[in-house]
Amino acid sequence: MLRIAIQGKGRLYEDTMALLSEANVKIDAGKRVLLVPAKNFPVEILFLRDDDIPQSVASGVADAGIVGENEWAEKESDSRIAHRLGFSRCRLSLAIPKDAEYSGPQWFEGKTIATSYPVILQKFLNKHAVNAKIHVISGSVEIAPGIGMADGIFDIVSSGSTLVTNRLKEVEVVMQSEALLIVNNQLSEENQAIVDELIFRFKAIREAEGKKYIMLNIQNDKIKDVCELLPGMESPTVTPLAESGWSSVHSVVEEKRFWEIIGKLKSIGAKGILVLPIEKMII
Ligand code: PRP
Ligand code: ZN
Repeated sequence: MLRIAIQGKGRLYEDTMALLSEANVKIDAGKRVLLVPAKNFPVEILFLRDDDIPQSVASGVADAGIVGENEWAEKESDSRIAHRLGFSRCRLSLAIPKDAEYSGPQWFEGKTIATSYPVILQKFLNKHAVNAKIHVISGSVEIAPGIGMADGIFDIVSSGSTLVTNRLKEVEVVMQSEALLIVNNQLSEENQAIVDELIFRFKAIREAEGKKYIMLNIQNDKIKDVCELLPGMESPTVTPLAESGWSSVHSVVEEKRFWEIIGKLKSIGAKGILVLPIEKMII
């Protein structure tokens, strides 16, 4: 049984639950209990505050955890990254009042910075040989300059709207962050196998994102043109149709390029174009 610590509420909660559900790990989260076994997979989910996840994985209270890279880096806990999950992307940045003139990291010399990430911030300040006072607060960091508590802030930026609302501007991006699957350094062989299976499923889900399955019919002398437009996972599948001189072509396309490709396919003479969602993709 693999015990995975995840955030009980907040930034990562919904995406994490959605990922587990897509990976067919069924969890009845409605019960509001701390520890919930999955119904159909050898894992149990431990719901924690995100700050507590790195340490619980390092100490072995949990075998694995899903946590933001920002928290993992801040806690410097002894656990390893098993897989980068690619969601909940954000950055950790320094921001100052909108109208202040920024001159580079030296701007912060002798100033006060409010943050919930003192470890990561101190490393950045050391690297640039800046002496600044760090004021640690656990939430609502963005209001600190407005109430005269700090000159600038160091916090998570995602859409940037919190900064705009608080009349702040981002001046240094210190690190990029995304959700991570972290694991204890001494996983049993049995639990490592469960982690490997989870990673396999997570990759298949991710591969399928933003991709569509496309099927169309085309005259045989145009197959080559169609295949050039459709660089699938490997080469497209071509099968002859009952009507002589015609074939059916199947492939995978990126959703972003979809309309551009469809227009070109039609002009080549493709007929009966069908586009289907892809649920999982194993490559
Ligand atoms: C973070 C951060 C900002 C906000 C930034 O808070 O502290 O408040 O997100 O996001 P934006 O750039 O999209 O506006 P979070 O929602 O994680 O909650 P917290 O303040 O309780 O940590
Ligand atoms: Zn916040």
